[in-house]
Amino acid sequence: MERIVDLGEYGSRFTEDPHPVYAELRARGPVHRVRLPPPALHEMWLVVGYEEARAALADPRLSKDASKIGETLLDEDLIGKYLLVTDPPQHTRLRRLIAREFTGRRVERLRPRVQEITDSLLDAMLPGGRADLVESLAFPLPITVICELLGVPELDRKAFRALSTEVVAPTSHDDEYDAIVRLAAYLDELIEGKRSAPSADDLLGDLIRTTDEDGDRLSPEELRGMAFVLLVAGHETTVNLIANGVHALLTHPEQLAALRADMSLLDGTVEEVLRYEGPVENATFRYAAEPFDLAGAPVAAGDTVMIGLAAADRDGSRFPEPDRFDIRRDPQGHLAFGHGIHFCLGAPLARLEGRVALRSLLERCPDLALEERPDDWLPGMLMRGVRRLPVRW
Ligand code: HEM
Repeated sequence: MERIVDLGEYGSRFTEDPHPVYAELRARGPVHRVRLPPPALHEMWLVVGYEEARAALADPRLSKDASKIGETLLDEDLIGKYLLVTDPPQHTRLRRLIAREFTGRRVERLRPRVQEITDSLLDAMLPGGRADLVESLAFPLPITVICELLGVPELDRKAFRALSTEVVAPTSHDDEYDAIVRLAAYLDELIEGKRSAPSADDLLGDLIRTTDEDGDRLSPEELRGMAFVLLVAGHETTVNLIANGVHALLTHPEQLAALRADMSLLDGTVEEVLRYEGPVENATFRYAAEPFDLAGAPVAAGDTVMIGLAAADRDGSRFPEPDRFDIRRDPQGHLAFGHGIHFCLGAPLARLEGRVALRSLLERCPDLALEERPDDWLPGMLMRGVRRLPVRW
């Protein structure tokens, strides 16, 4: 059997650009036994082939519920049950309570407001001549949209961002633990505030009151979990879609010129950004409740499996010349939003925000350029993105 691949051995190179490492692994086979880089250090299976990743994402033998293998995740323990840590039937029930809010049609109604927020952020940014794009646009746009949707406009964004980024890209066990505890307390406060001062028309208020056709409702832990997943997944990812998109375009001038010349390529550009440098590098953990053969890998009961979305989306057997950023290619079938029952609930919203942000930025900054090469890539293997993206125009 193949030896364990110690991903920590690749050092900071792996954080800055994981793609060559995934390419090396893909060349050796679709599934590998790996040890995660510090601080995590867990051993698990990593799926890097496209077909195998797609199949694994929809494989019911892989559970999202760690309690099925006798473990409790830190965030699950402190935050409560939420979509990404549940299996059917609980998952089906939770998803049904919220899915209607995020359909393509529902989200399209937000377009004018998304445009308005983008315009005002650009109005504030443009006179400066240079800015950190993350700080000025990529972060405030999605966090404002999701806060307005949920009905928590008073959220302390700076504090929230620090906690939430620590949760998705931990720098150490202690800091991660501390961030989750504080985030849980913070969410309780938000929910309590909503309960005592109900407002007419927002998602969190609706969820507090909600009863579906079967008279179902969310328990307090489920409500906290829902607020957590929507607030965290609703912005951490989209920040990186916008920043990774701008970075990819500014480092591929011929692609940028082609897009500027023909804005009908915009939707395809956003899909290619998702494939080429998607915000979620690896899907959240899955657990084998029973032993089985995963594309030749002998998965034992209790094993953890991580599915490589970035690795799958650069698999040359699915996407020819996978390392080429090409806004005219057909990236259909990319796994940036996952696949199967946990497919991203927010995909229509993320696409809308990504398209509006890129179009508006390019139109209003005809000579946009990188100020310096970004060097502060997020740690950990969950997210792919930079903390800062200095640009000028
Ligand atoms: C470009 C931006 C985004 C990307 C790349 C992305 C990616 C993903 C991926 C890969 C998953 C599946 C994870 C897995 O199976 O382990 C997922 C699930 C999810 N996403 Fe997104 N996401 C984005 C934006 C959003 C937004 C804006 C929202 C909120 C409104 C959101 C809410 C969710 C939720 C609630 C789930 C869990 C769904 C379930 O378990 O049934 N996401 N996302």
